[in-house]
Amino acid sequence: EAEVYKYYAEGEWRKSSSAKSVSIINPTTRKTHFKVQACTQEEVNKVMDAAKVAQKAWARTPLWKRAELLHKAAAILKDHKAPIAHCLVKEIAKPAKDAVTEVVRSGDLVSYTAEEGVRILGEGKLLVSDSFPGNERSKYCLSSKIPLGVVLAIPPFNYPVNLAVSKIAPALIAGNALVLKPPTQGAVAALHMIHCFHLAGFPKGLISCVTGKGSEIGDFLTMHPGVNCISFTGGDTGIAISKKAGMIPLQMELGGKDACIVLEDADLDLVAANIVKGGFSYSGQRCTAVKVVLIMDSVADEVVEKVKSKMGKLTVGPPEDDCDITPVVTESSANFIEGLVMDAKEKGATFCQEYRREGNLIWPLLLDHVRPDMRIAWEEPFGPVLPIIRIHSVEEGIHHCNASNFGLQGCVFTSDINKAIMISDAMETGTVQINSAPARGPDHFPFQGLKDSGIGSQGITNSINMMVKVKSTVINLP
Ligand code: G3P
Repeated sequence: EAEVYKYYAEGEWRKSSSAKSVSIINPTTRKTHFKVQACTQEEVNKVMDAAKVAQKAWARTPLWKRAELLHKAAAILKDHKAPIAHCLVKEIAKPAKDAVTEVVRSGDLVSYTAEEGVRILGEGKLLVSDSFPGNERSKYCLSSKIPLGVVLAIPPFNYPVNLAVSKIAPALIAGNALVLKPPTQGAVAALHMIHCFHLAGFPKGLISCVTGKGSEIGDFLTMHPGVNCISFTGGDTGIAISKKAGMIPLQMELGGKDACIVLEDADLDLVAANIVKGGFSYSGQRCTAVKVVLIMDSVADEVVEKVKSKMGKLTVGPPEDDCDITPVVTESSANFIEGLVMDAKEKGATFCQEYRREGNLIWPLLLDHVRPDMRIAWEEPFGPVLPIIRIHSVEEGIHHCNASNFGLQGCVFTSDINKAIMISDAMETGTVQINSAPARGPDHFPFQGLKDSGIGSQGITNSINMMVKVKSTVINLP
């Protein structure tokens, strides 16, 4: 029987009164590896009440002290990288080295956020009335940034630690309380990460982590009157949340269909390396993975050959062995990916490798000559399966990219910088990378999706600014 991990509320580790648990299935063994508490709505209410009280005191805690605690948590997090990475390997089949990188990157993110916070939150604004027509110099307006209250953070399975701290750290430095609802796969890694914040000595109730079934506490959390801001990363659930949430700021990142546009004058070795890295890192389970290659027909054969040869070197197997391609997160995810592959097969796509699957493990697959009538031309596999669409003009590539309902990132490969800038301007995506695969990091860069890919902008500075309101005090002279 797997141990049932406790949830974190009011500064302590608790068992849920539900006496129920949620199983976390190891994607590699497909057996229950961990269990977490199935929290009740009543327990969520308690967490919200405690968060509200703790936040009031936290908002009055000097900014440098808040930063000090975050730096402490960052150091503890890095010290605990091994056990946390171990959970990532078992819960989400992240390759061992990448799992360690995620934790270290998270520690760096927390420290950077503390530093950025003391700078940008330590600065206010003074306006004087006589710059607006008809006014004398009789009013002085002092503005500063104040916290929103309680921030609800909901990260996805693919970065349960990094995409949790990218919400937690900005919320805390800005003076907010934080309630974390981790993804089921990745919940135990998230609980360990929260323990690092616990060890750093944050006040009781300020941070909490509730685990449980989305069907029982999902809507209850996102529609809770005690929540003053939601920061969510994930799939379509985000669209449903945005429709149900109240009048509160929302930060959302909901996936993408990042296109890689390749022109004839591109460095084709660089293109091939980035297609493989961008398409197959963490088995394609990244919002920013390259999800469709739009390549000029005249260079397509050469690039396909180069990509195939690089793909042949990818190792396939368990995350413990640090393989490049590891089992995808759930059986239903593997089934979905398979559905896209079979649809492409029926409609005549060229398979550059044989399709192979064992359990949740899917071998990397390149599909050439994909056409717009195939589902994989538009849908996000979130797996190691990459479609290539051959194009005959730049306009055709831009058109395909912009016809997507997603608009997260995209990339363009060319040696002509003027063309690159023009294509970047024409692509309806939150970010365009020139001569490199899409990526969110470095974590202080702005990160945002247009259309169904999201609401608002992330990245450390933008997240801090999103989790505050402006408050003004006006001094009126006689
Ligand atoms: O899938 C989540 C998204 O934030 C990807 O991040 O660092 O892999 O580009 P990254």
